[in-house]
Amino acid sequence: MAKKIVFWTLVAFALIQFFPIDRTNKPVDSAVNFVEARKSPEKIRTLLKNACYDCHSNETVYPKYAFIAPVSWSVQSHVNDGREHLNFSTWQTYNKDLKENMLTKSIQTIQNKTMPMPGYIVYHKEANLSEAERALLIQYFEEMLKSKTY
Ligand code: HEC
Repeated sequence: MAKKIVFWTLVAFALIQFFPIDRTNKPVDSAVNFVEARKSPEKIRTLLKNACYDCHSNETVYPKYAFIAPVSWSVQSHVNDGREHLNFSTWQTYNKDLKENMLTKSIQTIQNKTMPMPGYIVYHKEANLSEAERALLIQYFEEMLKSKTY
């Protein structure tokens, strides 16, 4: 009985690997991509790419574990969901209200540590932002809000 359960579990595991997942990244237009359009300083660029761009841009870099079902389903759902809420690759296509809203929310989520997602940080050391790095990003977003250049 136990052997049968193990056998069929393995068969099921093997079969789900064949469910197709769309991991294609849409091409990025540098004219509307946040870090390029804003000419963000190198440090900010690196922080955003390391900590946010995997889920909030069309430049997602998939880790190895993202290719194994059912983990891959969860990863893809986070990426799709993340892009839907906020996509830095299409930043300049947002209207003023949406930009303001996203900057405000970004500050909040970085402050209260809901972003980058806690589960993601475990596997991405470079996204585990220090207090100083969080402060730097927050300051950058706050300056944008204050000067109304968004
Ligand atoms: C592992 C994927 C992942 C990473 C990395 C990530 N996010 Fe998110 N983000 C999501 C998902 C999924 C949502 C939507 C669901 C939710 O709000 O939890 C979201 C929601 C948000 C929202 C809320 C948008 C809204 O409409 O309320 C903001 C703002 C945000 N993220 C900013 C950031 C910033 C800034 C970073 C980097 C410091 C970041 N995120 C890193 C996955 C991610």
